[in-house]
Amino acid sequence: MYLERGITLALLIFLIFGVCTCIDTITLTQPLKDGDVLVSNGETFALGFFSPPNSTNRYVGIWYNKISEQTIVWVANRDLPITNSSGILSIDKTGNLVLQEKDHTFVYWSTNVSGVVNNSSAQLLDSGNLVLFQGLNKDMYSWQSFDYPPNTILPYMKIGVDRKTGLNRVFTSWKYSDDPGFGNYSHKIEVVGSPQLFLFQGMTKVWRTGSWTGSGWSGIPYMGVNFLYNFTFINNADEAVIIYQMYNLSIISRFVVTENKTLVSLTWNETTHNWDEGTTTPVGRCDEYNHCGAFGLCDLYNKVGTSECNCLPGYEPQSPFEWYLRDSSKGCKIKAGTQICKAGDGFIELTNIKVPDTSTARVNMSSGLQACKGLCLGDCTCMGYASADVTKEAEAGGCITWHGDMNDTRTFTDGAQSFYIRVDATELANYSSKRLKRSHKNLFLVIGTPMIAAGVLMAKQNEDEVGFSFTNSLKSLKGSLTEKIIGENVDLHVFDLSTLTTATDNFSHLNKLGVDGFGTVYKGKLLNGQEIAVKRLSQSSGQGMQEFKNEVTLIAKLQHKNLVRLVGYCFHKKEKMLVYEYLPNKGLDSFIFDWKKRFQIIQGIARGLLYLHHDSRLRIIHRDLKASNVLLDADLNPKISDFGMAKICGGNEDEAKTRRVVGTYGYMSPEYAMQGLFSVKSDVFSFGILVLEIISGRKNSSYSMESSINLIGHVWDLWKQEKPLLVVDSSLGDTVNEQEVLLCIHVGILCVQELAADRPTMTDIIFMLSKHETVLPSPNQPAFLFKKRRYSRDCEVVSINDDDITILHAR
Ligand SMILES: *[C@@H]1O[C@H](CO)[C@@H](O)[C@H](O)[C@H]1NC(C)=O
Ligand SMILES: *[C@@H]1O[C@H](CO)[C@@H](O)[C@H](O)[C@H]1NC(C)=O
Ligand SMILES: *[C@@H]1O[C@H](CO)[C@@H](O)[C@H](O)[C@H]1NC(C)=O
Ligand SMILES: *[C@@H]1O[C@H](CO)[C@@H](O)[C@H](O)[C@H]1NC(C)=O
Ligand SMILES: *[C@@H]1O[C@H](CO)[C@@H](O)[C@H](O)[C@H]1NC(C)=O
Ligand SMILES: *[C@@H]1O[C@H](CO)[C@@H](O)[C@H](O)[C@H]1NC(C)=O
Ligand SMILES: *[C@@H]1O[C@H](CO)[C@@H](O)[C@H](O)[C@H]1NC(C)=O
Ligand SMILES: *[C@@H]1O[C@H](CO)[C@@H](O)[C@H](O)[C@H]1NC(C)=O
Ligand SMILES: *[C@@H]1O[C@H](CO)[C@@H](O)[C@H](O)[C@H]1NC(C)=O
Ligand SMILES: *[C@@H]1O[C@H](CO)[C@@H](O)[C@H](O)[C@H]1NC(C)=O
Ligand SMILES: *[C@@H]1O[C@H](CO)[C@@H](O)[C@H](O)[C@H]1NC(C)=O
Ligand SMILES: *[C@@H]1O[C@H](CO)[C@@H](O)[C@H](O)[C@H]1NC(C)=O
Repeated sequence: MYLERGITLALLIFLIFGVCTCIDTITLTQPLKDGDVLVSNGETFALGFFSPPNSTNRYVGIWYNKISEQTIVWVANRDLPITNSSGILSIDKTGNLVLQEKDHTFVYWSTNVSGVVNNSSAQLLDSGNLVLFQGLNKDMYSWQSFDYPPNTILPYMKIGVDRKTGLNRVFTSWKYSDDPGFGNYSHKIEVVGSPQLFLFQGMTKVWRTGSWTGSGWSGIPYMGVNFLYNFTFINNADEAVIIYQMYNLSIISRFVVTENKTLVSLTWNETTHNWDEGTTTPVGRCDEYNHCGAFGLCDLYNKVGTSECNCLPGYEPQSPFEWYLRDSSKGCKIKAGTQICKAGDGFIELTNIKVPDTSTARVNMSSGLQACKGLCLGDCTCMGYASADVTKEAEAGGCITWHGDMNDTRTFTDGAQSFYIRVDATELANYSSKRLKRSHKNLFLVIGTPMIAAGVLMAKQNEDEVGFSFTNSLKSLKGSLTEKIIGENVDLHVFDLSTLTTATDNFSHLNKLGVDGFGTVYKGKLLNGQEIAVKRLSQSSGQGMQEFKNEVTLIAKLQHKNLVRLVGYCFHKKEKMLVYEYLPNKGLDSFIFDWKKRFQIIQGIARGLLYLHHDSRLRIIHRDLKASNVLLDADLNPKISDFGMAKICGGNEDEAKTRRVVGTYGYMSPEYAMQGLFSVKSDVFSFGILVLEIISGRKNSSYSMESSINLIGHVWDLWKQEKPLLVVDSSLGDTVNEQEVLLCIHVGILCVQELAADRPTMTDIIFMLSKHETVLPSPNQPAFLFKKRRYSRDCEVVSINDDDITILHAR
């Protein structure tokens, strides 16, 4: 209330006076004393004297004017604090801005530019930039704080090098949280070779953000699919800089180089009055600069139990013994006997790669990828090549070639770019045949010269296939991020009872598709030939016509390609029916022997659930997610059915306690089964079971008849023994992509954690499944390891058969 009044008052004053009356400028006659504050014209930033927490030292700094928690974004006298409050910031006779003590000549800090003319003034702009202007009409500036950045990157700030003046804007961490002095970590662009951003510890590179790939830095593959920040990279004769701004200008954001060896992105949360942390980088061992040494390749998804370090194809450990002991610092060397630069040389394409350090690489922007290959092949010192801008067509994307060490190369599971490494004829042939054996590993694709005809040709075919489906799954993933509700005015058909009676042959048991706690589903055929699925709801819910209609309309608005579409409804006396599109493939239970397909199904279900939980206007908790409620369309796309039932049948929208437990044995979370507590996390639990079932090809409830342990218990046992892959359905054969399966098993176990708080949200799950480079938390022992579970006494099971029972009872 106070806040509101405050804003109104401010608005009023603004309206009366037109502009902010605050002082935003220091002039010769108007210095700034300790205690005074300059406020930028739009009142966004303030400049004045401050002391860090737990310190009495005085510094001149800039902070957000409107943010309650004083957040310093720039400091002048970082290493020379004033110890009392006699500081004064003024324009001196040379026109420079200087920080001194009253009546003393010692200069604590100065803009220190030569040739400044008379009548200069320092103005704090609304971007947070303090600018020293020349002359009365401020047509030129001689200094700006954005060129002397502290530890904080703000929107519109340039990170990088002015090639004309040589100025490099380096962001340096504070020493400690109470000492803004120059710390040990700095973030800066280096322009040798192709410009790259680095995090340094002193003079040592600790993390390479990488070179610009056209849409982001090669070391941050998810940067290209970011909807918060708009990054612009400029690389020309004048400068090599990156600038960012927010797509939504009302979001307050900053990046900080911390004293903890990280670069953190933060956004201000108006609701909680806190800085929310976005990303923190670097992450994980593969981000450590050159973790696997020269010619090494860091891959976090190496087989369980092995090191994350590989050698690039065609290379072998420099010191096999140390390598074996997991000391990879010596890196790799070219394999003994390799005959580079002889007939039959070719390239192996590695996908999703953070390309090697480009400090010693050459860039040719007038060459396309095909010509790049020719350039590299024709130069015996060239060890590999890549596109300089992956957002452009292959012919226009430029060419980077490496001629010496290839350091700090790593893989990502998605995004990043392709890297083409030169190998000799023997290695190429080896690789082709190996690849044919392990066609499911889509990491390595072989592009050969036509010389090694047979093997390579076969590999080529394989590559097309893998390449194609991979691109597709990527597309659909990206699609899911932008999917919106389609069709605002939903075209819902109201069916007569007689129409549906005819369509289903008077609800003939021959047309029965399934039964569950909410009712019975029948297949039907309308007179025009359209096939439908009719769900005849149990008659117990006491909803009236208008109420029912309202809800149906709401639910019909939930449209997503992974949800079954509601096409209409029927209400007649006590009869309530919902009419859905009919899907020919019965359900998930029908077997699919291709891992790729199963993985896509898992992702599709996750997207559908995410939409129900977070993206749609209603928050729907499904409460009865199970294999038979996931239908597959003709293209085997999963579609969740029955998603509005919880709502139509009287469930609340958010976490709640329900008197009526609706769910299915084997899929219910402990808190739901035992206490009737449901939340999005109980759906996550069901999702986890579903994932494990899809991987194993077995049902949780029917698992291992001979032992007391169920599917979760079985998976957990194998996980603990570090043999999780043994759980995989053997009928998948060698279509299995081990890293995807491992990821899914890991996610599955996290979903079935005993405590709801330990389970991820669907948003987390989508992120994990999109194989972004995150370290997933280690799971604890899941819930329900044993088949015989004990429900509290008042929870009785109404069963139809043990495999697929729905529990429906009043508590
Ligand atoms: C300030 O000092 C107190 C007492 O020494 C300590 O508990 C607290 O953590 C310090 N705060 C900061 C921000 O360093
Ligand atoms: C502030 O401290 C300086 C020494 O650092 C001293 O010379 C000066 O007199 C002090 N001023 C006040 C007002 O205490
Ligand atoms: C100003 O710059 C000169 C040379 O560029 C340097 O020697 C001097 O120490 C600087 N003074 C201050 C107060 O930073
Ligand atoms: C600045 O003004 C002073 C007198 O006001 C004059 O002596 C001096 O030459 C001027 N400097 C420049 C660079 O114009
Ligand atoms: C500074 O401003 C005064 C008027 O305030 C003007 O007379 C003088 O010429 C200006 N000097 C310069 C160098 O612009
Ligand atoms: C910076 O690094 C040096 C050398 O490793 C170390 O002595 C010093 O304590 C570090 N400074 C901070 C603020 O951590
Ligand atoms: C992104 O930034 C560039 C450069 O500042 C700007 O031209 C462009 O309009 C921005 N795009 C959006 C969508 O904000
Ligand atoms: C921009 O962000 C503000 C504050 O977070 C939010 O209220 C507003 O809806 C956002 N605008 C858009 C177009 O997303
Ligand atoms: C650095 O790490 C410490 C301990 O985890 C934490 O308290 C502090 O907030 C971190 N500093 C920054 C700037 O993130
Ligand atoms: C602010 O924080 C709350 C609580 O953590 C969170 O629910 C909300 O989404 C945040 N708002 C934004 C704009 O991120
Ligand atoms: C590559 O890494 C090796 C081993 O760490 C190092 O000796 C070499 O100087 C590095 N080369 C380049 C070009 O940075
Ligand atoms: C750059 O690429 C073009 C086109 O492939 C080629 O003609 C030219 O020689 C290349 N320049 C260098 C320096 O290699």
